[in-house]
Amino acid sequence: MSEQQPLTPEELFKKVEAFLKAQHEVYAPVGDIPLPAVTGSAALPLQESPAKIVASGNPAAAAGSSQPNPVEASPDQQHPTETKADTLIQSLQDCKTLDALRELCEAAAVLRTDLTGTRLVFGKGNPKADLMLIGEAPGAKEDELGEPFVGASGNLLTKILAAIKVDRSQIYIANILKHRPPDNRNPTAEERARSLPFLERQIDLIQPKLILCLGLISAQTLLNTTTALKDMRGTFHPYRGAELMVTYHPAALLRNKHLKRDTWEDVQKLRQRYDILGCEPVLLPYLQS
Ligand code: URA
Repeated sequence: MSEQQPLTPEELFKKVEAFLKAQHEVYAPVGDIPLPAVTGSAALPLQESPAKIVASGNPAAAAGSSQPNPVEASPDQQHPTETKADTLIQSLQDCKTLDALRELCEAAAVLRTDLTGTRLVFGKGNPKADLMLIGEAPGAKEDELGEPFVGASGNLLTKILAAIKVDRSQIYIANILKHRPPDNRNPTAEERARSLPFLERQIDLIQPKLILCLGLISAQTLLNTTTALKDMRGTFHPYRGAELMVTYHPAALLRNKHLKRDTWEDVQKLRQRYDILGCEPVLLPYLQS
């Protein structure tokens, strides 16, 4: 569903020109950085401002290293960094609709992983959803179709939602990463930091009342913590004007059936909160009159 008025060719040209200029400034220094080794880094908290990491492309900063960030070394060197971060923030702020943000994401090399040729999995659902679900990263099926949660985990997710009488077309589903990492590995701390400002903008545009984080990576990234999942679930956390709940990832349920009971309790609680907050009624289509 398009939310934008069609642009005239002149407007489109100006937009592309402005975007490419911004892209050059923001992303050019980042393009060639090697991604850091994967081992264990996904569990690190994102100590640095994501915009700074995106702008500096400094893997050490992304990995929470105590090594000084070269671009922060002296006051006179700070200015270029802040300019790049500011440009990124401005480019994101300039996206007033999800369609505009999707366009920005399509062109953003910083959102890519080290797997080449992947497709953008931007997110899908009701742009005015009161409930937003956030997973980890696209897998093979999601990459193939360009949609989140359409593989085995997605099928289970659909059933979990149906159990609380929610149809997935009425909510919004996205991931921390918008591109598939190779071999279904965990997203690295640096990949998460690079993607986060884009997801935050997406959340701000949708303005959900409730967010459900599916799995540890999603919860730790949004809440910027290394807390264990079992200690984050069961309560609502304030997050960007919404209430955020954490539960297990459907893929974890497929591997470990013992987690189903806790997940069931979580989604029941979520559904109750949804109704208490007076969110838009979401019902399975066959239950609607
Ligand atoms: N797992 C995720 O976290 N997200 C998807 O989109 C699919 C599987």
